[in-house]
This record gives sequence, C-alpha cells and structure tokens, in this order.
Amino acid sequence: MDYEKALNEIKEILSNSKNNLQDVVNYIFENIDHYSWIGIYLVEGDDLVLGPWKGPNSTEHTRIPIGTGICGAAAESGKTELISDVKADTRYLSCFVSTKSEIVVPIIKDEKILGEIDIDSDRVNAFTKEDAQFLERVADMLKEHI
Ligand code: SME
Repeated sequence: MDYEKALNEIKEILSNSKNNLQDVVNYIFENIDHYSWIGIYLVEGDDLVLGPWKGPNSTEHTRIPIGTGICGAAAESGKTELISDVKADTRYLSCFVSTKSEIVVPIIKDEKILGEIDIDSDRVNAFTKEDAQFLERVADMLKEHI
C-alpha cells in the first residue's frame, strides 16, 4: 500500500463524508492487507469506549479502563504501542484468537488524549515504523473530527 496515497484519500474522506470516522475506518480496513481488525476508541472519563470499527468479528472489549491492556497503556502514556507478538506482552487483553500483533496510536489534541486507533493483525510482527508513522498522521487528521 502506498501510504501517501492513502493519506490523501483519507483527507478527502474527512472533508466530504458525514459519517467520516466510520468511513475512514472502512477505507483503512479495506485497503491495507495486513490490518485484520481496526477500531477507534474514544476517551470517556476514565475509560476508552469503542466507536467505529471494522473487521470480521465484534469485540467484547467495548469499554477498557485507561491503564488496562495495550489500549489502556497507550491512552495513559500518549505514546504509540507497537506489539510484534501479543503473546509476549503480559498487558495484552485478548479479543480475537487469530490476533498475533497489534498497534495502538493515540489521538491527541492540545496535549489531551481524545482516543486512539487500535489495529490487530493475524500476522506476527506485522507492523513497522512505517505503519506507526502512517497511523500517527491519520490520528493527527482525526483529532479535528472528534
Ligand atoms: N488487545 C487490546 C484490546 C482491544 S482488542 O484488540 C479489539 C488491548 O490489549 O488493550
């Protein structure tokens, strides 16, 4: 996938669409092969609450306390979490038996954590620095739409 092209498409979706967070989630899911599940969690008080998502299965983790799991860790620190092998991370909260690796990128505006992008992959070590940079740029665009 050409990430620059994807960023331009996402910019377009955000400027045109009414249901823009869901449409961005759908676009990313459909265009990037190694992303097996994608969701946007939004901060509500001390919790992360699942917003738009796309993938083969729903997750039971629709509300995650900040500080719990990989998702909660990223929301606490404001830093991207790139987990090559979820089995090796004791913080990991399992959603799907097929998940092997995960990336979580916070959405931050004016130093406030608004939410995050969470992506699972069915491949071990699926995510690279390029994925992190791409998703950090997506998060930077999404912050204006939350
Ligand atoms: N695995 C996450 C929970 C969310 S599911 O991946 C959709 C975690 O450890 O926080």
